[in-house]
Amino acid sequence: MIYINMSLIYVSYNINKCHPQDNSLLYKLIYFCSSNNLHKLSAALTEFINKKSKSMKSLQKLFFTAGMMITAGCLILSSCTKDGPQGPEGAQGPKGQDGTNGKDANSSCLVCHTTTNFDTKLAEYKFSKHFKGTTSSRNTKFCTRCHTHEGFQWVLGSGLFTPANDMPAANRINCSTCHAHSGFNFVDTIADILSTTSPVYLNYNKNLTATDFGQINNLCVTCHQIRGATALVYSDTTLTPDVLNKSFDQLPYFPFANASDNDTVQYRVGRSFSVHDGNQSNLFAGINAYEYKGKTYTRTWKHSEFSCTDCHMNTYNPADSTGGHTLKVNEAACTACHGSDKISPIRALIDAKRVELAELLTARKVFKKTVNATTGAVSYSAQPTHDFNGKLYGTATSSELYATNVTNNTVSPTTGLVVYGIMLKYAKDSDFANRIGRVWKYGEMGAAYNYAYINSELSLGVHNPTYALQVLQNSIDWVTAN
Ligand code: HEC
Ligand code: HEC
Ligand code: HEC
Ligand code: HEC
Ligand code: HEC
Ligand code: HEC
Repeated sequence: MIYINMSLIYVSYNINKCHPQDNSLLYKLIYFCSSNNLHKLSAALTEFINKKSKSMKSLQKLFFTAGMMITAGCLILSSCTKDGPQGPEGAQGPKGQDGTNGKDANSSCLVCHTTTNFDTKLAEYKFSKHFKGTTSSRNTKFCTRCHTHEGFQWVLGSGLFTPANDMPAANRINCSTCHAHSGFNFVDTIADILSTTSPVYLNYNKNLTATDFGQINNLCVTCHQIRGATALVYSDTTLTPDVLNKSFDQLPYFPFANASDNDTVQYRVGRSFSVHDGNQSNLFAGINAYEYKGKTYTRTWKHSEFSCTDCHMNTYNPADSTGGHTLKVNEAACTACHGSDKISPIRALIDAKRVELAELLTARKVFKKTVNATTGAVSYSAQPTHDFNGKLYGTATSSELYATNVTNNTVSPTTGLVVYGIMLKYAKDSDFANRIGRVWKYGEMGAAYNYAYINSELSLGVHNPTYALQVLQNSIDWVTAN
């Protein structure tokens, strides 16, 4: 039935091309299609068919008797063209070949398009953070591309990294953020129902080269990747020519071309060199951490061939509402294959290394450690070496004023990259006791970045145990030795 209905949409689309004055119902249909309300969609379809039935009668007959949509489409299309004067009758042509049988709706559309299937998917999706999370309020132009449905659509449509404007009315991620039929020919493999499968322009690569993570992964990775952060300023006089106060308005901050682990670098107040919470794809692929010279890094591991969905959309488990469209890993299915829990030991190991590195950086005053008075939760943050004017912080009490920045960012209309504007605001340095009193070494900054790379990634190494361990251990070794 759905197949027939869809044929009618197709046919009526052609009719509307000839008779464009009768469009309101068609728009309604398209609206319900795109607003992903399947119940309303079928109601609109019925209404549409009833209203159209007069003009459609002969066509319907054609369908039911010939049963072939393509022929019908051709007929209608040709009826659209302007008639010339009739020519003389030609001789009868040979009989045409029988057409191939049409696809049975039961074996194509109805594999997915049943109310039960839709309701199941909806119920599962409601367990996911895409539905439950609160970050669709992150709808400024710098955040909306990953945090809202409309932002994501804008980015897919434009190919730019950052939308032109804030999107205050944007909505959370929903079915049609991830789903759209990619054409009007309904080929209907999984890849044909995803809103994007294109290789991803990683922000880390300054949006210049596309990286292919595999069909389904490209959908997830468009959002689950390192985010561009505010700028960083490098000075390095050991390079030829000297690099003085060179600023970057997007990642990558690492690796800085030709930099050595012992080069010096300013880290100014208000600037961030961090990665944001979404760098799962970068760790999974074993790329984009700060890598020390002469050290070994292994990028692939046992499950590199898996896709995000092999783990995050594995078999739905009603016992703990994991798997399927919940996007939470059904860990029972992992253990069934592994024979024992392989996830917890990895997470414990990586977490211990993460804390070890943070403590080493705190001892050097590169990090500041904060213990929450009520919860006891421990956190570490990076200490800037310079104020915004490039003046080195001392380690003694100072009455001098220093600058913190309030960003006033804009977006380049040509590249879609963020251009960082700066406003100054003055305050007193009350944190002198924690100041490092010197510039950072590049290797220290790499270690701090690596801490953030693992800490923000949230899987605690599960996405690539080998690379995660090397990233942390090589940082620990360098910080200890230098
Ligand atoms: C592999 C699963 C699958 C198959 C097979 C499938 N669809 Fe869909 N279709 C979807 C999903 C998922 C959506 C998006 C649902 C939503 O956004 O609510 C969708 C949406 C639609 C929409 C709404 C418009 C759009 O592009 O988002 C129409 C119309 C539609 N499908 C028609 C069909 C027809 C006709 C067939 C058979 C010829 C078919 N579909 C086969 C999964 C499928
Ligand atoms: C439009 C951008 C976007 C796309 C596409 C996307 N995600 Fe997300 N994902 C997010 C954001 C944003 C969050 C955090 C939501 C919040 O906290 O409000 C998130 C959260 C998650 C979480 C955390 C779930 C939890 O319960 O803690 C998982 C897992 C996840 N996504 C997996 C995936 C997978 C797998 C795909 C691909 C099939 C995917 N995401 C596609 C943006 C996206
Ligand atoms: C490149 C995509 C991307 C961009 C751009 C982005 N985010 Fe995110 N963000 C994510 C993803 C993916 C997550 C989900 C991590 C998770 O919770 O599993 C996330 C998580 C978050 C969280 C934590 C959610 C939680 O539940 O803990 C906050 C807060 C947040 N983002 C704020 C922002 C803000 C503010 C901006 C703009 C300045 C921004 N994000 C820009 C991808 C992005
Ligand atoms: C985060 C992205 C994302 C969101 C949101 C999402 N899906 Fe999916 N969906 C996928 C991916 C990826 C697949 C392919 C899964 C696989 O690897 O087999 C899929 C598969 C499907 C299928 C075909 C497979 C099947 O078992 O029938 C249907 C139907 C479907 N989704 C419907 C929905 C509906 C309805 C919603 C909203 C309630 C929704 N999806 C929300 C990513 C998403
Ligand atoms: C080998 C299986 C596996 C693969 C492949 C995988 N993940 Fe994960 N992922 C996990 C496990 C296990 C966790 C940690 C347990 C958890 O938090 O659900 C996790 C955690 C996450 C989280 C944090 C969830 C949270 O609760 O905060 C996000 C987001 C995420 N994965 C996204 C992705 C994306 C995007 C991909 C593809 C690039 C991916 N994962 C590939 C197994 C996997
Ligand atoms: C088809 C079987 C199979 C499934 C399903 C499977 N794995 Fe694995 N996994 C393996 C094998 C084999 C190894 C390598 C054996 C080893 O390291 O001892 C492995 C290793 C791992 C490791 C590395 C362990 C270590 O000590 O280095 C992690 C992490 C992991 N799997 C996570 C997952 C997660 C998460 C899931 C579920 C979403 C999963 N796996 C599902 C077969 C599987």
